[in-house]
Amino acid sequence: MPAWGLWILLWAVAEAGSQGCPAPCTCQVLETMGLRVDCEGRGLTALPALPVHTRQLLLTNNSLRTVPPGAFDHLPQLQALALAQNPWHCDCSLTYLRLWLEDRMPEALPGVRCASPGLAAHRRLGQLTGYQLGNCGWQLPAPWAHPRVWWDVALVAVLILGLALLASLLWTSAKPLD
Ligand SMILES: *[C@@H]1O[C@H](CO)[C@@H](O)[C@H](O)[C@H]1NC(C)=O
Repeated sequence: MPAWGLWILLWAVAEAGSQGCPAPCTCQVLETMGLRVDCEGRGLTALPALPVHTRQLLLTNNSLRTVPPGAFDHLPQLQALALAQNPWHCDCSLTYLRLWLEDRMPEALPGVRCASPGLAAHRRLGQLTGYQLGNCGWQLPAPWAHPRVWWDVALVAVLILGLALLASLLWTSAKPLD
């Protein structure tokens, strides 16, 4: 490939990489493909909108308190995550982050230190039990919530009605007419 071809290719890759880079952060195309998204020390209070090719995400030294449930689900390539030096609010809404880190990046878990609430302050997210995180009021779905159950109930009701009708018909026809 001629040199200019290589340049055009590099430019295209860089261009594709810079697209969707969140405003306060800087993005860099990695040799292994994917993006390094550097948001260190930007005073962030919320997670920025992250490009789908994010492979490394640096969030160290910000004012992040929480990560919305599902926040990393659209980032299949995410392999490195730096979360230290943020005032994490370790309540039930951080359960997503905790489980995600346990599954995908256990080595990053010790870096998440909680600043609040009182029960969790100065502890690590990974040390908190499910009880201490709170359960957000989650409940197992009641069997009544299942449409299939209502379908069965309707079927049984129709059967009972049919049987009652049949019984009453038999009853009246069996009775001698006065
Ligand atoms: C953290 O970020 C702030 C800017 O938000 C910066 O002034 C400070 O030097 C950074 N601290 C460290 C330890 O990197």
